[in-house]
Parts: sequence; C-alpha cells; structure tokens
Amino acid sequence: SPADKGKQKESPRATAMIVIGMAGSGKTTFMQRVNSYLHSREQPAYVLNLDPAVIHLPFDANIDIRDTVDYAEVMKQYNLGPNGGIMTALNLFTTKFDQVLSHVENRANEVDYVLLDTPGQIEIFTWSASGSIITDALASALPTVVVYIIDTPRTTAPATFMSNMLYACSILYKTRLPFLLVFNKTDVQPHDFALDWMRDFEAFQEALLERRQTHGEEDGPAYMDSLMNSMSLVLDEFYKHLRAVGVSAMTGEGMEELFDAVQEAREEYEKDY
Ligand code: GTP
Repeated sequence: SPADKGKQKESPRATAMIVIGMAGSGKTTFMQRVNSYLHSREQPAYVLNLDPAVIHLPFDANIDIRDTVDYAEVMKQYNLGPNGGIMTALNLFTTKFDQVLSHVENRANEVDYVLLDTPGQIEIFTWSASGSIITDALASALPTVVVYIIDTPRTTAPATFMSNMLYACSILYKTRLPFLLVFNKTDVQPHDFALDWMRDFEAFQEALLERRQTHGEEDGPAYMDSLMNSMSLVLDEFYKHLRAVGVSAMTGEGMEELFDAVQEAREEYEKDY
C-alpha cells in the first residue's frame, strides 16, 4: 500500500501486545477477557505465557514457558527463593527465544494479535535483561505495544496515582515502545478522575491539596507536596505521549475502546519505529 512506500519491509498483520501490570491489577483476568473477546470476534490471538509460576492459566497459550522450564525444579537446583526462581526460569527461557520468535513470525500473518503475558511480579520482566531481550526481539519482528494494567480502585489517592504513573513512565522510557494505560476494574471505580488528572495537572494538584486537608500526613509528610507538584509537571509531558482507556476485565466493558487504542498505538509504531 502507498503507506508502506519507503519501508524496507511491509509490517506483518499481527500486532504484539506486551501485557504488564502490578500484582493484583487484574492482568490474568484481563488476558482471559481479551482472549474471549477476540474469540467471539473470530480473531483468535497467538498467546505466549511468560509466567513460570502461574498454577492455573484460565486461557490457552500457544507457547507456555512452563512447557520448557520447570520453575520449582529451577528453585531446587539453584537453591533459590520464589523470585530468584522466576527470574532464572525466565533467563533460561530467553536463551531459546530465537526459536519462540520464529514460531511467532510464522504465524504473524495469520493472526491479528500476539499476546504476551508476563510474570505477576512486574519488576521481574521490566527490570531484567531477559525482559529487555524479549521485548526488543519481539518489537524488531512485529509492531509491538506495551499495555500497562492499572488497578483503578486502588489508585484514587493522588500519591498512589503518581507512584503508579512514575512507574509506567519508567517503563515507557525503558522500552521506548508505544504505550497504552489500561485503567482496569471500571465496574467498581470509573476512571474519569484519572483522565482529569492527566489532562490537567492543576486538577491533580488541587486533589493533592484536598487530600492533604482531609487525610493529614497519612500519605506522607507535607513537604512531599511540593515535590509531587513538581513531578506532576514532569508527568504532564509523559501523558502527552500515551493513550489511556478504561476497561473492566470482569464485565468486558471498554473492549472496543481498548482495541481502537491498540490500533492507534500500532500506527504510532509504524510511523516512528
Ligand atoms: P497476579 O497475576 O496473581 O499478580 O494477579 P493479576 O494481576 O493477574 O490479577 P487477577 O486477574 O488475578 O485479579 C486480581 C483480583 O482482581 C481478582 O480478585 C480479580 O477477580 C479482580 N479483578 C480483576 N479484574 C477485575 C475487574 O475488571 N473488576 C473487578 N471488580 N475485579 C477485577
């Protein structure tokens, strides 16, 4: 197509979604929802599970780290605790990622999405060499977007919101990939407050002040406020570079908006990467 002119190779049909989120954000429920949504639209995805420690996966994975590495065995053999075990299992899997990638590439023109589920302990993926290697390999093979799941009901306090956004920001700068914030659990907590804060840092600063007046030093000493006010200016820049949607992984609300945003993120990838 004319849009592809000047590109060395046409990008594959599939868009890869790397799904990350803090423990309890609802990542597994989200993966399950996305899978069943895509099935109902007859657009089944190619699914990779990278969480070696998950016991029950409520969806089918085409490639499952647990088929290659036995995490409990790794813990025993290397005398590691749970996090060391997960990290080492991921490292072992990464040494074979070229094979995984060739499977993905073989299917990249047959499916619309490749879904990558990451370990429940977010930093094991976001702050490890293996996580970077996998992310970079995937992103060099097909359009890739990072999907960051947020536990909306737990992020209504301004200080928590800011910590979560700073974490997201650090992942954006680490991966440098198109980034999508997904405010999950909108069935219990609508995400409009978050959109307001992201659109208008003064609204965030007002919320901060109000919270201080009602909760005193519960969220931290008052001198933190001026730091938070400054950081809200920094984040203002960050917000300009990303998309945010609200979903309920539980009820399925927001799936259309989610996939519209994924499509926009893919277009950004095609333009910039
Ligand atoms: P780990 O992988 O175990 O760290 O957790 P996770 O991030 O995968 O979260 P999981 O999907 O297990 O969900 C955590 C909790 O949030 C569970 O009790 C879910 O039922 C609940 N949950 C997930 N999504 C939603 C949602 O959209 N709405 C509501 N109300 N609850 C949700």
